[in-house]
Amino acid sequence: MSDESVSGFLQTRRSVMARNMTTPGPDRATLETLLSIAVRVPDHGKLAPWRLIVLQGEERTRLGAVAKAAFIDDNPDAEGTQVQAAADQFERAPCVVAVIARPVAHPKIPRSEQILSAGAVCMNLLTAAQSMGFAAQWLTGAAAYAPSVAAYLGAQEGDEIAGFIYLGTAREAPSERARPSLDDVVRFGVSGDQH
Ligand SMILES: Cc1cc2nc3c(=O)[nH]c(=O)nc-3n(C[C@H](O)[C@H](O)[C@H](O)COP(=O)(O)O)c2cc1C
Repeated sequence: MSDESVSGFLQTRRSVMARNMTTPGPDRATLETLLSIAVRVPDHGKLAPWRLIVLQGEERTRLGAVAKAAFIDDNPDAEGTQVQAAADQFERAPCVVAVIARPVAHPKIPRSEQILSAGAVCMNLLTAAQSMGFAAQWLTGAAAYAPSVAAYLGAQEGDEIAGFIYLGTAREAPSERARPSLDDVVRFGVSGDQH
């Protein structure tokens, strides 16, 4: 890919909502390429403060059962459709990669930097998959904050679920999403009047 086509891709890249995904997902070899790209991120101190868990097939169903139980615990009065949605959430796409931030104690590298690096893993995986023509979306939802889900995924004390990256094929191309105006989020210079 030329530099121009990389920047063109990045200027138009879009996520596809998990509910608009279908099969196929990436095959094993493609997935390994995607995961290699995912972990090629800025990582202060080479701490590798993240873990990735690939969920396909019935692994998604089993994680859904854990998420469903957590959802019922937190929402005892929820309607049946909501409970079902919690159970089925990971089956919206053929492949879901859970990215766990695993910050370690370090005298110079704060926890926040390590969590940011896990976010970079999520974004790299998302971008890499989209660049190969896959549908991809970065989601958290209540499941990402449920201790039972984290424990099921093997999370340790201090770990955080940075996201679930859904990977599949788009049923239809996504429409454009509104983006912030640069004027609202960028200042050229501290005083805001330098260009
Ligand atoms: C950490 C994180 C968690 C997110 N969790 C959710 C979520 O649970 N539900 C949701 O609808 N969007 C969620 N999003 C937003 C979508 O991933 C994303 O903003 C949207 O699909 C548009 O992405 P795009 O800019 O790649 O097109 C999350 C984004 C981030 C960064």
